[in-house]
Amino acid sequence: MEKLLIKGGNSLTGNVTCSGAKNAALPMIASTILCDEKVVLKNLPYLQDITTMFELLGSMGSEIMLDENMNFTICSDNLSDIEARYELVKTMRASILVLGPLVAKYGKARIALPGGCAIGSRPVNYHLDALKQMGAKIVLKNGYIEASAKKLSAANIRFEGVTVTGTENIMMAATLAKGTSVLTNVAKEPEIIDLADMLISMGAKIHGAGSDEITIEGVKNLKGTEFYIPADRIEAGTYLAAAAVTKGDITVNGINPDRLMKVIDKLKGTGAKLDFTENSISISMKRDHPKPVDITTAPFPEFPTDMQAQFSVINAISDGTSNIYETVFENRFMHILELNRMGCDINVQGNHATIKGVKSIYGAEVMATDLRASASLILAGLCAKGETVVDRIYHIDRGYERIEEKLNYLGANIIRLPS
Ligand code: UD1
Repeated sequence: MEKLLIKGGNSLTGNVTCSGAKNAALPMIASTILCDEKVVLKNLPYLQDITTMFELLGSMGSEIMLDENMNFTICSDNLSDIEARYELVKTMRASILVLGPLVAKYGKARIALPGGCAIGSRPVNYHLDALKQMGAKIVLKNGYIEASAKKLSAANIRFEGVTVTGTENIMMAATLAKGTSVLTNVAKEPEIIDLADMLISMGAKIHGAGSDEITIEGVKNLKGTEFYIPADRIEAGTYLAAAAVTKGDITVNGINPDRLMKVIDKLKGTGAKLDFTENSISISMKRDHPKPVDITTAPFPEFPTDMQAQFSVINAISDGTSNIYETVFENRFMHILELNRMGCDINVQGNHATIKGVKSIYGAEVMATDLRASASLILAGLCAKGETVVDRIYHIDRGYERIEEKLNYLGANIIRLPS
């Protein structure tokens, strides 16, 4: 298994450009199932999760072509299969995103039930309840979800809890349903707006994405489109956090600061100076130690759970005590055990971490447990004394494009060790 060897102590300086957003790209690729024509996606990030989504669509009969400008043309108009097998679903839970489109377009789907994962149980009951309300018959059999419906009917659906992929799944399904659906208590993440924009460009009739209520008037069919994937706000936030822990001075290009407001507010709270344009965020950290910041994760527009692990590192080397409450996932503190092995002083009780800032932390051999946990270990390695080796980095390759190359370009010293 490949590992990352990080020699800590370098301040990050310079410019870095964000890749396309993984969490926007995944539902967009799934949405091509709804469409009768070719779809061209531009600025897709080169990531393991994207490859897995293509593998899934390919296994069902989609044609996927890459041109010389790295644009992908996807044609999913005549699928020969409607199954997402366990081998793929177990490596990427977002495979569930093909459920809504398959039932809406082909009247049936067979998707392996995602099990638990490192950050919690992550059930899909909200997705299934909503599809049932649209008239789908759902049977759970042999570890698979078997869904069928002659034609989905529009429905007024109030989600029991806020779910990002659940909102996306049902928004996609409703585009081809009979009548007008109204979805409430929906997720408001920027990626929901991105998906709605893409579906609208395909001829869908969607209003209200990004608000508490989304209205979708079903149409007979969707046409092809070309769509540019916006920058990854979590990747941007991770590089800003990396600068904050290394007394850095960097500009992250390609990112709209409106997508990261809560993270920016908290970075300001650490004593860093932040500047913006419409399309970039600059950060400069002059303090020897960041000021501690309290964090409570919650759905957008609140502080994103996908930035919690990175802020654990900022707080761990701060000059005071702070609290982090994780309210989105029940088991998202796996990185803390590894951070404590590097000399951090963090105590976890349930969903609450109390972090006492320490003067310095030390390199160690650590193990990544999930995507954002891996990012936090790299950040810790960047500000630790000595060498850190991060194992199981396949997690990081799922969600960060060429992370060590981008960080090295900013002055980090990271080597990818072959397996
Ligand atoms: C998406 C993101 C992930 C991010 C998360 C929260 C993608 C591909 N992934 O994941 O990066 O961390 O949002 O912002 O976009 N839940 C249920 N039943 C359901 C669905 C969800 O109980 O049917 C619970 C989950 O266990 C979790 C919470 O709701 O506790 C939020 O999960 P959800 O928003 O669905 O996360 P994902 O869409 O899987």
